Amino acid sequence: MATQPSVWTVIVAAGSGTRFGGAKQYLELAGTRVVDRSVAVAAQVSDGVVVVVPASDVSAESARLAADSVVAGGPSRAASVRNGLTAVPPDAAIICVHDAARPLAGADVYQRVINEVRSGAGGAVPVVPVTDTIRRVDGGVVDRSALQAVQTPQAFRGELLRAAHDDAGDATDDASLVEAAGFSVVAVQGHSRNIKITHPDDLAAAEAWLAT
Ligand code: CTP
Ligand code: MG
Repeated sequence: MATQPSVWTVIVAAGSGTRFGGAKQYLELAGTRVVDRSVAVAAQVSDGVVVVVPASDVSAESARLAADSVVAGGPSRAASVRNGLTAVPPDAAIICVHDAARPLAGADVYQRVINEVRSGAGGAVPVVPVTDTIRRVDGGVVDRSALQAVQTPQAFRGELLRAAHDDAGDATDDASLVEAAGFSVVAVQGHSRNIKITHPDDLAAAEAWLAT
C-alpha cells in the first residue's frame, strides 16, 4: 500500500492579543492553555507540528510545548507563518496552517481540509455561513448569501504554500495569499464553534461550550 503524503502543521501563536487585552494564547481554557489545546489536536492528524511564538517566549515554550519545533514569529501573521515554514521539512507534502487562537478546531475539520488536498486540491479552507446582516461602512446592505466566513485549519500542497509566501505578501489568512499567487482553493464545511478567541467574551463562550 502506498504511504500517505506527509502532513505538517504550523500553529501561529506569535500575536500580542491587542483586542483581547493580553497574550490570549497562554490563557487556560478549562484547565488547558489555548495554545496547548491547538497543538494537541494538530498532533493527532500531523506527522509534525511547528509552533510560532513571540521571540521572547521561544526558550520557555520550547521546554513546555509538545511540538517538534518552536520558532520566533514576525511582525504580522503572514510573517509568522513564513518563519514557521522554515522549520517544516522540505519534503512535507501537505502543510496545514492553524491559528493557535482557535482552540476548539476538531480533528474532523483538519481531516476535511487534508482530504481535499490529498484528492488533488491545491488548498482547502473551512467556511461557515455568515449569520449577521452585513452592512457596508459607506452604507448599504451586502447580500450575505454570497458571503462565507473563513476559519483555520487551512491545508495546502506544501510547494504552493511556500511559493505563495515567497512573494512576502500580507493577508489575514494563507488561502488569500495562495489565491493571489494564482492557485485555487476549495471550501469545506467548518464549524460554528470553531471561533477565534479575539475578545474576552470569546474565551467565556469557549469555556461554556466545553462544559456542555
Ligand atoms: N499571529 C502570529 N503572529 C503575528 C500576529 C498574529 O502568529 N504577528 C497569530 C496569533 O497568535 C493568532 C493568529 O495569528 O493565533 C490569529 O491572529 P489574531 O487573532 O489577530 O491574534 P492577535 O494578533 O494576537 O490579536 P490582535 O490582532 O487582537 O492583536
Ligand atoms: Mg492580529
